[in-house]
Amino acid sequence: MMLADRLKTLAPSSTLAVQAKAKALRARGIDVISFGAGEPDFDTPERIKEAAVAAMRRGQTKYTEVGGIPELRQAVCAKLRRDNGLDYEPAEVVVSCGAKHTLFNLVTALVNPGDEVLVPSPFWVSYPEQVRLLGGVPVAVETREATGFDLDPDRLRAAVTPRTRLVVLNSPNNPTGAVFSPQALAAVARLAVERGLWIVSDECYESLTFEGRHVSIASLGPEVKARTLTVNTCSKAYAMTGWRIGYAAGPRELICAMTDVQSQVTSNPSSVAQWAAVEALAGPQDEVAKMAGEFDRRRRLIVAGLNALPGVSCVMPKGAFYAFANVSGLFGRTWTHEGRTTTLKGSLDVAAFLLEQARVAVVPGLDFGSDAHVRLSYATSDALISEGLTRMRAAITTLA
Ligand SMILES: Cc1ncc(COP(=O)(O)O)c(C=O)c1O
Repeated sequence: MMLADRLKTLAPSSTLAVQAKAKALRARGIDVISFGAGEPDFDTPERIKEAAVAAMRRGQTKYTEVGGIPELRQAVCAKLRRDNGLDYEPAEVVVSCGAKHTLFNLVTALVNPGDEVLVPSPFWVSYPEQVRLLGGVPVAVETREATGFDLDPDRLRAAVTPRTRLVVLNSPNNPTGAVFSPQALAAVARLAVERGLWIVSDECYESLTFEGRHVSIASLGPEVKARTLTVNTCSKAYAMTGWRIGYAAGPRELICAMTDVQSQVTSNPSSVAQWAAVEALAGPQDEVAKMAGEFDRRRRLIVAGLNALPGVSCVMPKGAFYAFANVSGLFGRTWTHEGRTTTLKGSLDVAAFLLEQARVAVVPGLDFGSDAHVRLSYATSDALISEGLTRMRAAITTLA
């Protein structure tokens, strides 16, 4: 089949692929422990489900305003004021089918073919793929493990060219768990204002900030706010990944453009899910803190366990629910499977080795921009974390 040229470089989501592989092995009766999940293992709180049921019963099952019902855009404004010190009006908000969709609308609305987009690395896999899909040029800008993968304003500054259009910020970070320091954010805000760059601030893991302080870069001043799109989602904070509600706030003109894009692609996000999201954002927030407390505990468990494995080290993530383990200490070691000896040379080899020998699924760091690492999600139970670590230790001790 002759597909469009833009498909030639498209990599399918590797995180979803790991999940699918683990599921397929399980379906064959093979007991795999998956650290691949990109979603909380909690159920959506009951009050939110009830709000959806009530909306259905009221007959709120028709098309809505493309950019979201006024009640939800109002609830987003109230949330941004409450949690982020940001003042927006409903006309400066658009609701989409998940933050992934929000980000795609943004790239469509803002990035011309050939425009460069700075993506601090390691990065969430979809940023460069979305940019490439639309003809833009993603430019990875390294962050350093020694600083806990904090944003590096000097390297970002050095990467700016006349074609640079947008900087992608993600704090708390997927995959590293970094919470960017206020100083680094302030320096990047200055850079964006000076050089006329746009900023997208993906704050999807905001509610899972365990150390440091979550700062919305748009709150640092009116000049940077005028150049920033703040993106968030109901997926992670409220365990609502399947409901597909993401949202963004930013300058009215940009929001209008993104809404126009959406009007030709999906129309509104699900009406029922929007009513659930109103309840999620505006109702009592105690489950959020409860989930965050649970993740915080698991984070310590998994990171201590990873650091105790020979050849593996892991910086303490400050937010989100991922541990980004450095496995380069295993490179050069060999394992034998079905008569074939393989040398571990990169993160793909380590992930394949762990799946085969430990029955543990992790995501190779290569897809996130670092071949020295693998990503483990700790959105899973203590028992599975402990068992997974035990299996990994047993497998690593068999390496020659
Ligand atoms: C950094 C980051 N941004 C955005 C998303 C998208 O979330 P959703 O589309 O479910 O709102 C994810 C999901 O894994 C993510 O990790």
